[in-house]
Amino acid sequence: MPALVLLGAQWGDEGKGKATDLLGGSVDYVVRYQGGNNAGHTVVVGDQKYALHLLPSGILSPGCTPVIGNGVVVDPSVLFSELSGLNERGVDTSKLLISSNAHIITPYNVTVDKVTERFLGKRKIGTTGRGIGPTYADKINRVGIRVQDLYDESILTQKVEAALDVKNQMLTKLYNRRAIATGQVVEELMGYADKLAPYVADTVLVLNQALDDDKVVLFEGGQGTLLDIDHGTYPFVTSSNPTAGGACTGAGVGPTKISRVIGILKAYTTRVGAGPFPTELFDEDGEALRRIGGERGVTTGRDRRCGWFDAVIARYATRVNGLTDFFLTKLDVLTGWEEIPVCVAYEIDGRRVEELPYSQSDFHHAKPVYETLPGWSEDITKAKSFSDLPKNAQAYVRALEEMSGAPISAIGVGPGRDETIEINSFL
Ligand code: GDP
Ligand code: IMO
Ligand code: MG
Repeated sequence: MPALVLLGAQWGDEGKGKATDLLGGSVDYVVRYQGGNNAGHTVVVGDQKYALHLLPSGILSPGCTPVIGNGVVVDPSVLFSELSGLNERGVDTSKLLISSNAHIITPYNVTVDKVTERFLGKRKIGTTGRGIGPTYADKINRVGIRVQDLYDESILTQKVEAALDVKNQMLTKLYNRRAIATGQVVEELMGYADKLAPYVADTVLVLNQALDDDKVVLFEGGQGTLLDIDHGTYPFVTSSNPTAGGACTGAGVGPTKISRVIGILKAYTTRVGAGPFPTELFDEDGEALRRIGGERGVTTGRDRRCGWFDAVIARYATRVNGLTDFFLTKLDVLTGWEEIPVCVAYEIDGRRVEELPYSQSDFHHAKPVYETLPGWSEDITKAKSFSDLPKNAQAYVRALEEMSGAPISAIGVGPGRDETIEINSFL
């Protein structure tokens, strides 16, 4: 059986957690391949609500092995508090596997994230402040700390020393902060080693063997396509590759193994943090989307910026990820609007542009060109099949599908596991 990738098609918070959890019961492994605890995935199971940040959403499905791949950055303090939070609620987390090659978010990476943002002032990215960017920067600079380093104290000390050499200069001379002592960091990290040991594995080997044995492996993206370091709205992006290719490098599985790439697509658009967002609304419609959709960050508690659906972005996501399917979420949030505008193209300096411009300056000037679709007022949260939807809701879905370039194979009509209309099976 094949490998599937499930990823965000917009700027994150599309409902990846719910979609992963929904499939979790039918897959053998759920793998995070990039990002860290900057993610915030809400999963609703019956009357229980779970907020996951670092752990794969598959951790809530008893038959499934959750895996943190080599491409993820791991904050051990967050990991253990998330694990104990789940254990207290009766969730068995003992099957979790963590790649020995995953990088560690150290306390100094969190400090650097916060001070750099403060220093940027008006130009800040609006990061989650979790140390994500600095940890990936250390990885690329070859001064990162990996999970396996916790099992060789002398190597760990040398590496922390090397990383702090430059950082302490920066912290003390540029940012007017106190220097961080190597010994203190090493002691804190070594304190996690024994607790972490039962989870550490050669996850690349495990996953490839699983695929050879016909197991089903689901790669769960964090963030979204437009937050991708290569394909997103740089520099207003995260520091990893949430796009489909990231699953290969971030888990060590070849592209030939992946047979399906599912883009999670919200029926409107949201974004957290700074950066361009052509369909953003500053009026009562934006406020209503935020209120009805509960658009408040799971990780930082920030209000999400809200706007209408943007088909240019959806087409772009289809292209850069090779999407085979969409999972359209939160259609229920649009119930009650008489008319729903959908962005079909942009106007940039007087020209109509059908595809995402390659120049960031152009994207900053892009004005949405809207087509207006008729809305519906019937409650759709109990709909179980496509034909249960009101005609106008069906037409809205079909129009989005046409514009976005891949079939919509499932529709979310509420946050719960069972509030989903399945059109084409994913497995
Ligand atoms: P993720 O980061 O992509 O996993 O998404 P978040 O969990 O940050 O945000 C999505 C929010 O929408 C969560 O609160 C979900 O419980 C909720 N949600 C997911 N799908 C649906 C849906 O189809 N309808 C409604 N009303 N809420 C949904
Ligand atoms: P999920 O997985 C929405 C945004 C931050 C900021 C930018 C960089 O829940 O969809 P970072 O801390 O990653 O360096 O911040 O990326 N961001 C997200 N926005 N959902 C997320 O994750 C996000 N993770 C990071 O707001 O603009
Ligand atoms: Mg989220």
